This record gives sequence, C-alpha cells and structure tokens, in this order.
Amino acid sequence: MILVSGGIKGGSGKTTIATNLAVMRAAQGRDVLLIDADDQETATDFTALRSERLPSGAGYTSIKLTGSAVRTETLKLASKYDDIVIDTGGRDTTSQRAALAVADVLLVPFVPRSFDVWTLEKVSSLVGEMRAANPNLKAYAFINRADPNGRDNAEAAEVIRETEVLAFIDTPLGTRKAFSNAAAQGLAVIELKPQDTKAAEEIWALFRYVFDTVAVSE
Ligand SMILES: Nc1ncnc2c1ncn2[C@@H]1O[C@H](COP(=O)(O)OP(=O)(O)OP(=O)(O)O)[C@@H](O)[C@H]1O
Ligand SMILES: [Mg+2]
Repeated sequence: MILVSGGIKGGSGKTTIATNLAVMRAAQGRDVLLIDADDQETATDFTALRSERLPSGAGYTSIKLTGSAVRTETLKLASKYDDIVIDTGGRDTTSQRAALAVADVLLVPFVPRSFDVWTLEKVSSLVGEMRAANPNLKAYAFINRADPNGRDNAEAAEVIRETEVLAFIDTPLGTRKAFSNAAAQGLAVIELKPQDTKAAEEIWALFRYVFDTVAVSE
C-alpha cells in the first residue's frame, strides 16, 4: 500500500502519524519505505535519531524526495517494498500533489478547535483534483490532538463527516505528551517506556483501520 500522511495545515500531526505507522508496520515484518516529501525533513531527522539510538537500526528504509520526483521515484520503488509511507509538508505543494498522484490512501489529521477544520474544503478540492489523475485515491480524515473533554471533538467530527470527499475515521488520538516524548527519542509511541497505554491503544486503532479495513477494501 502507498499511504500519504498529508493535508494542508502545519503541525496537525502528519509526521507523527507517518513515522508511527512506518515503525509499527515494519515491526510486523513488512518491508517498509518511509519517504520524506517535506523539505523540513522532520521524518528524516526522526529516522536518523532512531537509527543512532537503536542497535538494530530504524527497521525501515528512509529516503528524501521533493517535487515531481516524489511521483516518479515512488513508482519505481513501489514493487520493491511491501508498503510505502509518504510524509508531506502542510501545504499544497508539487511534492504533495506528486504523492497523491501515486497514492492508494491519503490520511489527513485534523486538530479540533483550530484553524485545521477550516482547511477541509481546500483539502477536499485538492483530493477531487488529484482523483482526476488517480481515480482510485482513497482519502480519510481523523482527529488528532483530541481534547480530553468538551464538545470540540464531536463538533469537529460532525464537520468532517459532512464532507463527501473525505471519509471520517472515528479513531481519534488524544493530546498526549507520549507522542512527542516518543518522537524525541526516535521511538514510536508503542515503544515508549513506561508505556502510555491510552496513546498506544489509540495509534493501534488507527493502524488497524488503515492496514486491515482500508487495505482489505482495495
Ligand atoms: N496526539 C498528539 N498529542 C500530543 N502531541 C502531539 C500529538 N500529535 C502530534 N503532536 C506533537 O505536535 C507537534 C507537531 O506534530 P507533527 O510534527 O507530527 O506535525 P506535522 O503535521 O508533521 O507538522 P509540519 O506541518 O510542521 O510537518 C510535534 O511536536 C508532535 O510531537
Ligand atoms: Mg511534518
């Protein structure tokens, strides 16, 4: 599967999702390629830190691509890996469009009670445009950095459910320090010790949805 972690909002959790899913998928014995298509290179930095810290290495292959090469190189590499995860920057760039031109699935994190939800329409039209080139592109949205309480999660979910282009996945990730603590150590949140069981359960639920439910429906 070629999976893109994208959207057009900075700081929504794209790299967190891309790196966690890549680590978890590789831990299942799959040959995973993580493509960093964001010029900020956060995913690449994460992998470098991870490789340094873990005696067994990152567990997946990591490369950096930019612009239209994201499409052409991914196409060349697709048959060599079981799964490819592409991390994009939070803008409508040539890189993100190139990724969407070859992707099976786009995953878009939305932070509730923020300007993120305002970008829904723009993300929808981006997906709509990219489906002209890639009719099989599936697009899913979910809530990241959910609030511990209050109405904001439900309100954001309602707005997302209304869009026809993106399917809403009801597997939110809460606002949990464990996600940033793990990233700071080059780890996925499920590898963090002591473990934050809620964070681990949440990322597993998203993981299962993406690699079991979505993959099977292809
Ligand atoms: N569920 C969460 N709970 C707490 N912190 C989170 C959560 N998700 C992400 N973060 C933190 O928020 C910050 C931004 O996340 P991340 O880098 O994944 O976003 P991004 O969308 O890739 O940003 P950019 O647009 O800059 O690439 C990071 O410090 C990350 O650790
Ligand atoms: Mg990022």
